[in-house]
Amino acid sequence: MTDTATAAAAIIDGKAFAQGLREKVAVAAADFEAKAGRKAGLAVVLVGEDPASQVYVRSKGKMTVACGMNSFEHKLPADASEAELLAVVQALNADPAVDGILVQLPLPAHMNEQTVIAAIDPDKDVDGFHVINVGRLATGLPGFVPCTPLGCLMLLKDKLGSLSGLDAVVIGRSNIVGKPMAQLLTAESCTVTLAHSRTRDLPDVVRRADIVVAAVGRPEMVRGEWIKPGATVIDVGINRVEGAEGEKARLVGDVDFASASAVAGAITPVPGGVGPMTIAVLLRNAIVAAHRNAGIAFDDASL
Ligand code: GUN
Repeated sequence: MTDTATAAAAIIDGKAFAQGLREKVAVAAADFEAKAGRKAGLAVVLVGEDPASQVYVRSKGKMTVACGMNSFEHKLPADASEAELLAVVQALNADPAVDGILVQLPLPAHMNEQTVIAAIDPDKDVDGFHVINVGRLATGLPGFVPCTPLGCLMLLKDKLGSLSGLDAVVIGRSNIVGKPMAQLLTAESCTVTLAHSRTRDLPDVVRRADIVVAAVGRPEMVRGEWIKPGATVIDVGINRVEGAEGEKARLVGDVDFASASAVAGAITPVPGGVGPMTIAVLLRNAIVAAHRNAGIAFDDASL
C-alpha cells in the first residue's frame, strides 16, 4: 500500500475463484464416480414459492449437474406440515444415493427451523447447520462448515496466505455467517473480535482490524474512514437498494465500496465477491461428504 489516500484496493474476484473451485470439484466428482461406481448426489428441499429461494435452488441444481453430480430436488407446498417435511428429510437420510442434504431457508413461519435442521443426518449436513457440526467446528473436529464463511476464509487465505497473528473483526453474529466465521478465523490463529449491533464505538473497533468481515445486512454501513489502511475487507452483504427517480434498483454490500476501496489493501466487490462462493463451497462440501460417506480416502484440503 502506498501512502496516498487514493490508492485503490486490489479487487478480490470471488466469481473467478468460485469458477476455479467448481472446476476442481468436477475433477473430484469424476474421480469419485470412477471409484464408487455411482455419482455423488446432492438433495435440495424447497418449501413454498419464495422467488429468491426458487432462483437460488434452480442455480444450485444446474451447477450440481454441471459438476458431474446428481441433483435431487424436492418441492413441498407452502402449507405442507412440518411432519411432511420431516418425512422427506428422513427418506433422504436413508437414501444411499444422497450424500448431501440442504433444506432451503427460510422455512414458512409454521415450521421450526431448529427441529428440521436437527433431523438431518449430521454426515449429510452440507450446510453445516446441525448442532453436531457447529460443535465439531468449535472443537476442531472434521465436520461440515457453513458455505458462506468457509468461502470467505478461502478468499482470505488465497489473498493473504497465513492469517496467523492478524487482528480480525467480524461484524454480525448470525449462526450462518458471523459465529462460524469467528470460529474459522480463531482456528487460523487470528485475534478475533465478534462485533454486533450492541458493540460500542464500532468504527474504532473496525479500525484496529487487519481483516474485516462485514455480515450485518445493512447497506453500505461500513465506511472507508473505519478501515485501517491496507486492511483486507470481505463484504458478505447483498442488499437491494431502490435507485433514485428514474434509476434502477442496485445491489450493494454492507461496506461502502467507494470509500472503503480507497483505503483497503484488498476488497470483495458486490456483486461478484462473496456471493458466487456460497454455491461453489456447497458443491465442495457435497463431494467431501460423498467421499466420507462412501469410505473413500480424499484430501479435503485439496479443495
Ligand atoms: N438460504 C439462503 N442461503 C442459504 C444457504 O446457504 N443454505 C440454506 N439451507 N438456505 C439458504
